[in-house]
Amino acid sequence: MYAKVTSAGLLGMNAFPVEVETDLSRGLPGFEVVGLPDAAVKESRDRVRAAVKNTGFEAPAAKITVNLAPADLHKTGPIYDLPIYLSLLKASGTTAADFSGAVFLGELALDGSVRRVTGALPMTIMAAEKGYKRIFLPAENAAEASVVRGIEVFGVRSALDVVNFYEGVASLRPEPPLTFAPAPEGSYPDMADVLGQTMAKRALEIAAAGGHNTLLIGPPGSGKSMLARRFPSILPDLTFEEAIETTKIHSVAGALTADHPIVTARPFRAPHHTVSPAGLSGGGTIPRPGEISLAHNGVLFLDELPEFDRMALEILRQPIEDGEVTIARVNGTLTYPCRIIVLAAMNPCPCGYYGHPTHPCTCSPQKVQRYLARVSGPLLDRIDLHVEVPPVEFEKLSSGGRGESSAAIRARVNKARQLQSERYADAGILCNSGLTPSMMRRFCPVTDRGMQLLKAAFDRMGLSARGYDRILKVARTIADLAGDEVIDAVHISEAVQFRSLDRKYWRR
Ligand SMILES: Nc1ncnc2c1ncn2[C@@H]1O[C@H](COP(=O)(O)OP(=O)(O)OP(=O)(O)O)[C@@H](O)[C@H]1O
Ligand SMILES: [Mg+2]
Repeated sequence: MYAKVTSAGLLGMNAFPVEVETDLSRGLPGFEVVGLPDAAVKESRDRVRAAVKNTGFEAPAAKITVNLAPADLHKTGPIYDLPIYLSLLKASGTTAADFSGAVFLGELALDGSVRRVTGALPMTIMAAEKGYKRIFLPAENAAEASVVRGIEVFGVRSALDVVNFYEGVASLRPEPPLTFAPAPEGSYPDMADVLGQTMAKRALEIAAAGGHNTLLIGPPGSGKSMLARRFPSILPDLTFEEAIETTKIHSVAGALTADHPIVTARPFRAPHHTVSPAGLSGGGTIPRPGEISLAHNGVLFLDELPEFDRMALEILRQPIEDGEVTIARVNGTLTYPCRIIVLAAMNPCPCGYYGHPTHPCTCSPQKVQRYLARVSGPLLDRIDLHVEVPPVEFEKLSSGGRGESSAAIRARVNKARQLQSERYADAGILCNSGLTPSMMRRFCPVTDRGMQLLKAAFDRMGLSARGYDRILKVARTIADLAGDEVIDAVHISEAVQFRSLDRKYWRR
């Protein structure tokens, strides 16, 4: 006796259909799961057997073989409980229901109730693309899956609900389709709260407009963390496609809840500096996306940058450049996207006051250098804007005024992004931070005066080729904010300012 029920599997972000086949034969009673299952899948046997009994059926006293096909792809997690349960009931003739044309996923508790799973969104997208008409999944995952069009999503609380539905003794209603709406204004705190710090705010506007990685450096209490937390409020609105991409990662990581089934604002991830390399970049025994991927289409904020584990930061370098992270596994590799803006903040020395205009620094020069050296040159090279955040003057704090609102800044950012998306429509990049040297020759025309200034800066600052490229990229964004197609001397000179910290602190 044989039955087949369709389920799904995940390889990184990509889902694929899995056929759960059950065969009952005579012989010593047993329960075998084959087809590259991991430990959690193997444990399905005990959960399914208990669930069958506790939902009022009888587990067949036969030799049970469950095969998960295709057999060459690894199956992970407990999501096959529900399809195994259903195919077992079908193979034993307990139900005559026809489960074809639908996809089933869900972990079972011993009493047959269905528990939430990870990766429901990418699996539902795959099911709809492959033409399946229905998907049955845990009720807690129904909301996230219901953004997918062209497939009926049924959230179930118990395995028995599915059997009863198919046998016509109970009804189940499909989840109403969820429409995407960007998060309302005010989801993040407003830039207007930050007084003074004109230069730092300008830098963040440029960073938002061109997608540039940025480092804020300054003494304690100057407002670095405060500025950083307000950065997402000046980023362009999240588009539907971006929201789905980001939600897929959060789905795979199990970071969604029934209350927040879909990511509606650009993520702002601020991992603590004690985060492990795997926590930051992704990986682990059961591979999961890391903070860098959870921040996809948003911001990864590294506060107190020198405190982070050196290894963890080094591993970030390549993903930051590529916009995707590759994770090695026993049997091959996985990739997760991570198109992010890295925002980092730090004090210039352990006591925090090195270079402060009034407060003396208590660190020895060696101590300062050791502290700064924890941030490696290659990582610094990937940060386009270096910004000094000086202590705020008392007059600014006591004036009772307010700064410019995030909405006003974001309007300028959106305009500059619009110019970029038109310019790069065929180039395969989204914004200026993605410009390669060859693209720069095409997209970054500079006036003669601008060229002279750039050459002067190059000679005076002893810039590397990388430093030169970065000044040009940032100048491109500054020109875009001004609505100018050709880069001029004013744009270059502003861009050069955001390189001076290298020399002040790192003597590079
Ligand atoms: N520019 C500012 N405008 C208004 N309030 C400010 C400003 N700068 C600092 N503050 C006040 O000081 C507090 C501390 O600022 P914040 O935590 O951002 O400092 P920080 O630069 O991150 O310091 P640390 O280096 O110690 O982490 C803020 O919560 C805020 O109340
Ligand atoms: Mg801080």
